[in-house]
Amino acid sequence: MCGIIGIVGSSEAAPRLIESLKRLEYRGYDSAGVAAQVNGVLERRRAPGKLANLEAVLAAEPLRADTGIGHTRWATHGAPTERNAHPHIAGRVAVVHNGIIENFAELKAELQAKGRVFSSDTDTEVVAHLVDQNLMDGMEPLEAFSSALKRLSGAYALCVLIGGETEIIFATRNGPPLVVGYGDGEMFVGSDALAVGPFTNRILYLEDGDYAMVDHKGAAIFDASGAAVDRPIKIVASSAAVMEKGNYRHFMEKEIHDQPEGCQRTIAAYVDPLTAKTAVPGGIDWASLERVQIVACGTSYIAGVIGKYLIEKYADLPVDVEIASEFRYREPSIRASALAIAMSQSGETADTLAALRYCQAKGMKSAAVVNATESTMAREVDVVWPIHCGPEIGVASTKAFTAQVSVMTALAIAAARARGRIDAAEEARLVRVLLESPRLIAESIQLEEAVRAVAVEIAKARDVLYLGRGPMSALALEGALKLKEISYIHAEGYAAGELKHGPIALVDEKTPIIILAPFDHYFEKSASNMSEVMARGGQVVFITDPDGAKHAPAGARVVMTAPSCDPLISPLVMSAPIQLLAYHVAVQKGADVDQPRNLAKSVTVE
Ligand code: AGP
Repeated sequence: MCGIIGIVGSSEAAPRLIESLKRLEYRGYDSAGVAAQVNGVLERRRAPGKLANLEAVLAAEPLRADTGIGHTRWATHGAPTERNAHPHIAGRVAVVHNGIIENFAELKAELQAKGRVFSSDTDTEVVAHLVDQNLMDGMEPLEAFSSALKRLSGAYALCVLIGGETEIIFATRNGPPLVVGYGDGEMFVGSDALAVGPFTNRILYLEDGDYAMVDHKGAAIFDASGAAVDRPIKIVASSAAVMEKGNYRHFMEKEIHDQPEGCQRTIAAYVDPLTAKTAVPGGIDWASLERVQIVACGTSYIAGVIGKYLIEKYADLPVDVEIASEFRYREPSIRASALAIAMSQSGETADTLAALRYCQAKGMKSAAVVNATESTMAREVDVVWPIHCGPEIGVASTKAFTAQVSVMTALAIAAARARGRIDAAEEARLVRVLLESPRLIAESIQLEEAVRAVAVEIAKARDVLYLGRGPMSALALEGALKLKEISYIHAEGYAAGELKHGPIALVDEKTPIIILAPFDHYFEKSASNMSEVMARGGQVVFITDPDGAKHAPAGARVVMTAPSCDPLISPLVMSAPIQLLAYHVAVQKGADVDQPRNLAKSVTVE
């Protein structure tokens, strides 16, 4: 959940390191720092908080060198202070790290017993001391680095500078991703393609266990056994455009508005608009498949729940969806005959990756619904289902969520057809319904002014309740998660039918209740839940469609009408209002929308 960058350059490294760290801030922003060798001596600049603080430090005290390393931190071990900010230095060694060194306490005690003095509370610092101790014991730099790696257990992506080796960076990954960028006479190492995007689009993805010695001429890469290996260099799409906010105030606002176009791109990869048939890649034999096991976290988990509703309803195929961090440790009773689907925007979420590997170890065929198609998850599964929504920078997931739901909707139609649950005519009808969704999402986004007005009231609330039935119960979870994570208001999403089993005790005139209820077969029940909460003073924001508005009980504080649509795509069409509500409440509260406190975009540690 941290971002790291290394540059072996031919011009001032500091401003380039900062440029890259700006692209990595979505991975964590508790502190930031850079290190370089000035006349062969290691120097560093660090600052707690946002990158702007580090820029101020560098403006006051420039760092003049062409080779350097940088880091933006999401704190795991040690408070987010300057003392704990990376890079960490011990003797001739500077290190930046993403991940967790799980045996750091034991290593730290061993090193302290040798007289080594530590200056931080972090796990990372042990790496600098291990490499430096190896150098002091007479090892050459590459051996000092590789021998130190053999002592580590845990998840780590590292960049290391060694004093005296002024034009070399040592790097490794074991878990969190790390890429090597190839420039013209310059080389780069970064957490992902975005990090090195300003400098090159020629990218090599290190594999788990690889380590590398990178200099101006290129990279010498070795696998965990120490054997020299070649990894392919790929040309990746330029990411520069995506990194701009355009005329939006926040990436999240831009990404909400990008959804119609994003979902159009996603859907086009899974259906054939000319034949109105599904065209899902991967060759899954849906007809003989007995069960699907979905593992995911956060918003991706919620997209998986919606996938379950759709696949079971349309394809009559059993689907289990589970929070990855629970699944991976509870010894679930699963069968090799099931298909494992990992859902992840980043493709690097540690818990989801571990749960996926658990399924694979049980013999399951595996697929990944991911945005980052070069991510670890994408490279470890049998089938990749990309969501094609472009890099998502806002920590709160929006366009990736609807893109994931779009993929799950296409899978549901394909599975239904393959299992004989629908004929070709019904498949064509459903495909056409799915193809309409981008236009209807755009119409739903037109509710923004009404949402902005409601947000003023909701921003004053202490607690907010979201209710829905069927797929809307999952959207209620998503609405609550969005509000919590960017406005810091406590919110809960609940299946509306559960209200009477406890949560209704929460209802009073101070608690806004957001009810999601398109005019479908759940509507009548949702309407009676609405009456129940209003009878107890609940202030209801009713999000429905024109028919629902006609039939809604009187008394709601606000009724918003999203476009009417087929139940197949109501999760897609009803997402925008809850995303916009969370966004505008956060703006009302002056919260840091794109980089909410305590969060990071990609949770690569458990
Ligand atoms: C969503 O708004 C959150 N930022 C978070 O729940 C996220 O969905 C979760 O961490 C999973 O990330 P992934 O999709 O990259 O695996």
